[in-house]
Amino acid sequence: MGGAADLALALDPVAWARAALAFEPDAWQAQVLRSASRRILLNCARQTGKSTVTALMALHMAIYRPGSLVLLLSPTLRQSSELFKRVADFYRHPAEAVPSQAESALRLELASGSRIISLPGKEGTVRGYSGVDLLVVDEAARVADELYYSVRPMLAVSNGRLVALSTPFGARGWWYEAWHSPAAWERYEIPATQCPRIRPEFLEEERRALGEWWYRQEYMCEFLDAETAAFRREDVLRLWSDEVETWQL
Ligand SMILES: Nc1ncnc2c1ncn2[C@@H]1O[C@H](COP(=O)(O)OP(=O)(O)OP(=O)(O)O)[C@@H](O)[C@H]1O
Ligand SMILES: [Mg+2]
Repeated sequence: MGGAADLALALDPVAWARAALAFEPDAWQAQVLRSASRRILLNCARQTGKSTVTALMALHMAIYRPGSLVLLLSPTLRQSSELFKRVADFYRHPAEAVPSQAESALRLELASGSRIISLPGKEGTVRGYSGVDLLVVDEAARVADELYYSVRPMLAVSNGRLVALSTPFGARGWWYEAWHSPAAWERYEIPATQCPRIRPEFLEEERRALGEWWYRQEYMCEFLDAETAAFRREDVLRLWSDEVETWQL
């Protein structure tokens, strides 16, 4: 690609996503991609495309800022692999997404020296990184407070960016507090009703199946108190019992 054309793609991640990946971002995704903010919160309903947009941010930075370090943090190995696979698929190197060891961090290293490293949310695997240019915290509501506080200093020296994304999970924890704090986060709230790929009929069906409390949390971005839930949190957690021990709630 020519110098001027490449410069345009370097400066505009939306143009890059369209030209290089044939990906058309939703309007809010385009806004996130073009944001210059160093602190971003994405409070989005399930399946609205929040992981996808951060995978694009990560890859754009790695490609156009040589030597950059991007960390993708998720609460579980499965979630961390999923987000990483999305990055690798966009990069069209699916083979790199296959973990060599089940517990190890997944990484994509570009010729420019940039690295994208995906970490499951265990403090042991997370320590040891510094000079992080972009830190993405996926499923943020399920990332433990201690882990969040232990990763933030990695941005200090590099003055790096932090993007945290999640569907709400109760009115508690750092993610809830960040969303409601006076701190200067750039905030995006995307309910399922705003997503062009989620049909109103599906949402009606979900509202009936889940009940009002869960519907409002999963699809309408609401932070709801656990006491008002029709189910006990413990019972719900047990449904995902294979993940429970790594959620670090
Ligand atoms: N702009 C877009 N155009 C077309 N498809 C999209 C777009 N953004 C996201 N998608 C698709 O929508 C689906 C959900 O995206 P994604 O996994 O990023 O959502 P999510 O908000 O992270 O969901 P979850 O809450 O389940 O983690 C995926 O199949 C993804 O490829
Ligand atoms: Mg996701």
